[in-house]
Amino acid sequence: MSAPDRSIHLEALSRAFRVGSTTVHAVQDVSLTIPEGKLTVIRGRSGSGKTTLLNVLGLLDRPTSGSLRYGTTNVLRMGDHERDRFRRNEIGFIYQTIALVALMTAYENVDFRMRVAKAPLDEREKRVPECLHLVGLSERATHRPFEMSGGEQQRVAIARAIAHRPRVIYADEPTAELDTVTGIHVVAIFRRLIEEEGITVVMTTHDPAMMELADHVVEMENGYVLEHADDSM
Ligand SMILES: Nc1ncnc2c1ncn2[C@@H]1O[C@H](COP(=O)(O)OP(=O)(O)OP(=O)(O)O)[C@@H](O)[C@H]1O
Ligand SMILES: [Mg+2]
Repeated sequence: MSAPDRSIHLEALSRAFRVGSTTVHAVQDVSLTIPEGKLTVIRGRSGSGKTTLLNVLGLLDRPTSGSLRYGTTNVLRMGDHERDRFRRNEIGFIYQTIALVALMTAYENVDFRMRVAKAPLDEREKRVPECLHLVGLSERATHRPFEMSGGEQQRVAIARAIAHRPRVIYADEPTAELDTVTGIHVVAIFRRLIEEEGITVVMTTHDPAMMELADHVVEMENGYVLEHADDSM
């Protein structure tokens, strides 16, 4: 028997926005497979559709047309409730502008995400320190965001995104605010997560240094995907 398919399959996926009397085709007819357990980078100029595609993939937004499957699961056919639960349990998000809760410590920020996923207390008490350790922040557990550097806050955001053991993480320009060395460090953490926890990571970036670290690069232009490096799968 073969292993279950946990790759993400997009077919003719489009997302258009109506603005007044015009239509913006932010994502157009995208068909590709995002391989499981790899680092996929989506690159492209500003306005090329990266964030729109990420939001559709992460079930924060619905496509105008096309199909989206996680393995054999057609996630677009899910009802609202089922989709919310799927997103809460299976998906982790990291945003460009770090959205930590300012009044919470690093520990509490990570723990909060597990509470949202309804993880029991004993599991949280084990998992939160483990996640902070994974991103090298055991020493900062009791610090609040304003008591940490930008790179440290970004690493807390990663710890938070993985705490509930999602199968895929979407990161929208997670390194944009960081210097190259710190950015590479963040991507190295993604690589570790892929190897140690089998997570699939999809990140957008403008930075060529980050692309070198990817298994798979998807290039977008005007909503279209230009190239798709199948040989890396
Ligand atoms: N809610 C919206 N309503 C109308 N147009 C939108 C909306 N969201 C995005 N767009 C348009 O869709 C296109 C793609 O936007 P998107 O945010 O996906 O680009 P991006 O590749 O992430 O760019 P950046 O690198 O600047 O973050 C842009 O032309 C944008 O103006
Ligand atoms: Mg964007």
